[in-house]
Amino acid sequence: MSGKTVLEIKNLSKSFGKNKVLDGINLTVEEGTVCGLMGENGAGKSTMMKCLFGIYAKDEGQIDLFGHPVEFSGPKEALESGVAMVHQELQQCLDRTVMDNLFLGRYPTKGGIVDEARMLRDSNNLFARLSMNVNPKTVMRTMSVSQRQMVEIAKAVSYDAKLIVLDEPTSSLTEREVRKLFSIVDNLRKQGVSFVYISHKMDEIFEICDDVAVLRDGKMIFKKHVADTNMNELISAMVGRSLDKRFPDVDNAPGEPYLEVRNLNTKYDPVLHDISFMVRRGEIFGIYGLVGAGRSELLESMFGIRTIASGQLIVGGKKMHFNSSKQAMNHSFALVTEERKLNGMFGKDTIKFNTTITNLEAYKTMHLLDNKKLNEAATREIKQMNTKCVSPDELITALSGGNQQKVIIGKWMERSPQIFLMDEPTRGIDVGAKYEIYQLIIKMAKEGKTIIVVSSEMPEILGITNRIAVMSNHRLAGIVNTKETNQEELLRLSAKYL
Ligand SMILES: Nc1ncnc2c1ncn2[C@@H]1O[C@H](COP(=O)(O)OP(=O)(O)OP(=O)(O)O)[C@@H](O)[C@H]1O
Ligand SMILES: [Mg+2]
Repeated sequence: MSGKTVLEIKNLSKSFGKNKVLDGINLTVEEGTVCGLMGENGAGKSTMMKCLFGIYAKDEGQIDLFGHPVEFSGPKEALESGVAMVHQELQQCLDRTVMDNLFLGRYPTKGGIVDEARMLRDSNNLFARLSMNVNPKTVMRTMSVSQRQMVEIAKAVSYDAKLIVLDEPTSSLTEREVRKLFSIVDNLRKQGVSFVYISHKMDEIFEICDDVAVLRDGKMIFKKHVADTNMNELISAMVGRSLDKRFPDVDNAPGEPYLEVRNLNTKYDPVLHDISFMVRRGEIFGIYGLVGAGRSELLESMFGIRTIASGQLIVGGKKMHFNSSKQAMNHSFALVTEERKLNGMFGKDTIKFNTTITNLEAYKTMHLLDNKKLNEAATREIKQMNTKCVSPDELITALSGGNQQKVIIGKWMERSPQIFLMDEPTRGIDVGAKYEIYQLIIKMAKEGKTIIVVSSEMPEILGITNRIAVMSNHRLAGIVNTKETNQEELLRLSAKYL
């Protein structure tokens, strides 16, 4: 490598009100390298990058790009200077096409009108160059989250940026897409493009990064060559203590059969075929499978938000049929979804509102909402979930990505559901906080709750469940005892119907 410095952040500080989020940060990124950026939820990773892009105004410090101080007024100006960012929470126009999203704000024109033919050509060339199979005319809304994430990555590449910031880019990518992303990153790196790569996934950091920097509570702990550090060192740098194990003991004792799904078929695409299983009280039941195998659809069909064509849902010996999530909730079901922005979160509202909204009846005194009870609930969940925030009245959008997810889990905890469906519950959550969520899951199971958890992370599904159902191509490929299975078996089952 030439060793030329592309980005140099010097003594960067940023506060929101009294909350000092970045405290004298220094970071350099060299040409043609990938610099990982790690740190707990709320450590300041996204904020740091938003200061670079002028999305937030920094309080102090200097940012040099290619040797010159810069002060961008916003992402557009940054892009024009060769710096692109793929955000943690995608900001796309879902009702527009892929190519509209690619060219937003820079439509090619011909004689004063938008040159659609050129847009299509350029889009196709871009996807061909990245060997991605996407039709530029597809409406974004009809695509999966993972495909939308890939479009966003392609967009960053299309600007011929010299520095690309990826903020948790793989959170919803399929394994194959992760491979593709890594080969794109690797190719661009060879051409001299630099990256800042924010992720909570250790194995990704060791695979794709040259260097790794760790932030804790707004301070830069260190930046090292990946080859000169290891997982334990990174964890203790992030959480300020060592974490001797990643999973608590799964010492719950499942009781009698409680929930049963019998020959379930769903009506609309993607159609689930003939799914049958039984889960006990106090059991933690995992659902594994590749992204797109139908796991979320299965949870949704149990929760009344996906039409069932045939089959039965039986709870405590009684047949149930839910036509809406409300009915499911009335029968003590809860569903934590993977896409918090679309399904779970009211962005314009406070932590307090988001914590209490699904359970308002519980906070009334004489038929009126009791603010004291609302505050107590919000405070209880902030404490239980260890959510990093200033107060319950803070807007949920002011929280870091991982802390937003904790609020969503807390809201469902408030309902104390008998059957807790969790779809990728620890997505975007840091290593330390994951452990706490696992403890909560085990605690709920010990209280006799039935827990069904979908996860794409193999260690997680093997680390916290009693049994695992594996889905493959919208079918159930098998059910195994967690203690008696291994990674190979899960992978083999997940490919059964491909
Ligand atoms: N617009 C805002 N207003 C007020 N506080 C904010 C705002 N944006 C971020 N913060 C606060 O800054 C801190 C750092 O947040 P940031 O999003 O940078 O964390 P992060 O390291 O990216 O975490 P995660 O891994 O969860 O994404 C958090 O405490 C957050 O609440
Ligand atoms: Mg973040």
